[in-house]
Amino acid sequence: MKDMKKRVLYSKDSIDRRVKELADILSHDYKGKDVVIICVLKGAFIFLADLTRYLEMTYVVDFVRLSSYGSQSESSGTVTVTKDIEVSIAGRDVIILEDIVDTGTTLVWLRNMLEKRNPASVKICTLIDKKERRSVEIDADYVGFDLAEGFVVGYGLDFNEKFRCLPSVYVIEE
Ligand code: IMP
Ligand code: MG
Repeated sequence: MKDMKKRVLYSKDSIDRRVKELADILSHDYKGKDVVIICVLKGAFIFLADLTRYLEMTYVVDFVRLSSYGSQSESSGTVTVTKDIEVSIAGRDVIILEDIVDTGTTLVWLRNMLEKRNPASVKICTLIDKKERRSVEIDADYVGFDLAEGFVVGYGLDFNEKFRCLPSVYVIEE
C-alpha cells in the first residue's frame, strides 16, 4: 500500500446522521434495561463517544482490547485479550460496539468469551459491516453502514495506526 490514495466513502455529516439513527433505535430497544456497552479498542472509541452522547437510556460503558495476530490489514484466527472489561455483565444486557466486522473472527471469539459470563443478552452494534471476507457465521444486530468490499480508514479505523482520527471514513485506493 505504498502509493495509496484515499477517497471519502462516508462523510462526517452522513456518519453523524447514521450514528444518531442508531442511537434512536438502541434507545428504543433498550429502554429500562440494565445495559453494559462494551467498546472494542482501539477502533470503536470515536463511534462510542458519538453514539453514547445521542443515547437516551441508562447504561454503563466499559472497554476491551483484543489482539489478533495477522497481517496489517487482516486479522488471523488467534485472538487474545490484552485488556479485559472491569464490570460484571452477569444478568445484564450487553452491547458490543465495534468499528468494523470483517472476517468476523474477532467478534465470534469475543461474543463466546462474554457469553460464558452469563449476561442476559449479547448483541453487536458495528459502524461498518463488511461481508467480503466473512469466514465465520456472525450477524451484527445493529449496523451503521454495509460495505461490499475495500479497506477503510478514519473515524477510529486505522491503517498501521494512521488515519484513525480523520472525521470521515475513507476507502484506500492503491
Ligand atoms: P475480523 O476479526 O476480521 O472481523 O477483524 C475485525 C478487525 O480488523 C476490525 O476491528 C479492525 O480492527 C480490522 N479491520 C478489518 N477491516 C478493516 C478495514 O477496512 N479498515 C481498518 N481496519 C479493519
Ligand atoms: Mg477493531
